Amino acid sequence: MFAPRRLGISRRLFSTSPRAHHENPLVRIDSNLRDQSLKEGQGLPKRGQSQAPQMPRKSGPIQRRPIANVDKVLAVASGKGGVGKSTVAVNLAFALALRKNPQTGASLRVGILDLDIFGPSIPTLMGLQNAGEPALTDIGSILPLTNHGLPCMSMGFLIRSTNPASEDNDNTDTPIVWRGLMVQKAVQQLLFDVDWSKNGQGLDVLVVDMPPGTGDVPLTLGQLVTVDGAVIVSTPQDVALSDVRKGIAMLRKVSVPITGLILNQAYYLCPGCKTNVPRYLFGKPDNFHKVAQRLEIPVLGELPLVEGVSASADRGSSYMLNNLASVEASDGEGGLTWRTNMARAAEQIAGSLWKTT
Ligand SMILES: Nc1ncnc2c1ncn2[C@@H]1O[C@H](COP(=O)(O)OP(=O)(O)O)[C@@H](O)[C@H]1O
Ligand SMILES: [Mg+2]
Repeated sequence: MFAPRRLGISRRLFSTSPRAHHENPLVRIDSNLRDQSLKEGQGLPKRGQSQAPQMPRKSGPIQRRPIANVDKVLAVASGKGGVGKSTVAVNLAFALALRKNPQTGASLRVGILDLDIFGPSIPTLMGLQNAGEPALTDIGSILPLTNHGLPCMSMGFLIRSTNPASEDNDNTDTPIVWRGLMVQKAVQQLLFDVDWSKNGQGLDVLVVDMPPGTGDVPLTLGQLVTVDGAVIVSTPQDVALSDVRKGIAMLRKVSVPITGLILNQAYYLCPGCKTNVPRYLFGKPDNFHKVAQRLEIPVLGELPLVEGVSASADRGSSYMLNNLASVEASDGEGGLTWRTNMARAAEQIAGSLWKTT
């Protein structure tokens, strides 16, 4: 997967066991590294960036910083949980990776950053839940874990299992129990202490899977980082739409440009049925389109509800990676429509990220 020097960080350091739950495990990387590097006679680890990340403050301008080795930052957000944000983020990352950089003509290099600190799902969606701890570079940056050719980083890689019966160190049942400041610190380190370069090349685009809601994480991201675009995911229900409006208002407040909206689980096309009439299981998308129009935000696409999308996610893979014949065989027109619409959304997003104005 990668061949960096392992500095022997252990999941013990990232434990959120009840005894240690007030400590931010990421913060503790530093002291461990120091011990480790002193043992190895290397002196203190040096950070790639000399400037420390700044905390959001009430007064005084906050300097936004680029993420090292990342050209564009694309947030995938929503007001609400469970609308398919992480699923869209992962599949969008693969859909983008299948495209070319409009400026260089080379395949886009894409990574995923999971900023859902309390409910990280990227390790599972990327089939990396048992991949072990990330390695560190000589200067103490965290190296992403890679599967299906896509590098990713998540809080889920940095916590250990609290289940003593777990033999494979599965930590999916381990809660993070932190207050706001610890969350902010963890977000800063996930933003600024990950080394996204590989073989001397950085990423064209980092897809950031956001947590639901309008809390600390989107605020910290918007205040500290230059975000190039945000894709807002919603489902058709009014309850999801009202949260989407709040999410958009917040992102606009922190000057994050909204690239567009994706309506997920928009309808269902029954694979075995003779007629391909969309079934609007969660209601028709009229209100969604009205909201998009009122807010003057483009709709990037509507994704149907597809059994295979969920099954691929549970298997730790992306529906974008399935071949089209198997998509058609198992999910029929719905699967094909999902694939087409996701690819179109990726095309529009790439066009917006690299637009020449
Ligand atoms: N278009 C879709 N078709 C079928 N299942 C979907 C679709 N979008 C999301 N899901 C499923 O819905 C559940 C919630 O998705 P998830 O991406 O975890 O939501 P969120 O990140 O917004 O909380 C997952 O089981 C996922 O596989
Ligand atoms: Mg999620």
